[in-house]
Amino acid sequence: MKLVVAIIRPERLNDVLEELFHAEVKGLTISRVQGHGGELERVETYRGTTVKMELSEKVRIEIGVSDHFVDPTVKAIIDGARTGEVGDGKIFVLPVEQVYRIRTGETDRAAVTPVGVPPG
Ligand SMILES: Nc1ncnc2c1ncn2[C@@H]1O[C@H](COP(=O)(O)OP(=O)(O)OP(=O)(O)O)[C@@H](O)[C@H]1O
Ligand SMILES: [Mg+2]
Repeated sequence: MKLVVAIIRPERLNDVLEELFHAEVKGLTISRVQGHGGELERVETYRGTTVKMELSEKVRIEIGVSDHFVDPTVKAIIDGARTGEVGDGKIFVLPVEQVYRIRTGETDRAAVTPVGVPPG
């Protein structure tokens, strides 16, 4: 199992959600975050040259998936989020040790598989 964490432009969220829906990726968590992509802008100050680090509004998406869902999930995010301009964001894929569905006590792959969709 993996946790797919994506940082995207807020204005691309609806497109990403649509792509994820078509890829049958159902369970996810969204938060509004602030981030920085590494581009530093040099500014002159009275003490010399310094760098300015501006934070921009981003949306963080977290999706727990079984391994065979990683590729379709990543593809859906890229298809929905890419503009081709600097700042489109990043996707991290993290290993997940355990998942529990609280209501049923189901664990692991059964727990990341949405109810009603046969485990595959
Ligand atoms: N190494 C990182 N670790 C954690 N978050 C990051 C990292 N790089 C980027 N982010 C997050 O992703 C957001 C968008 O980053 P950004 O798209 O600028 O990445 P990038 O690698 O600089 O790509 P680009 O060249 O397209 O700008 C940042 O605001 C930040 O929230
Ligand atoms: Mg950047």
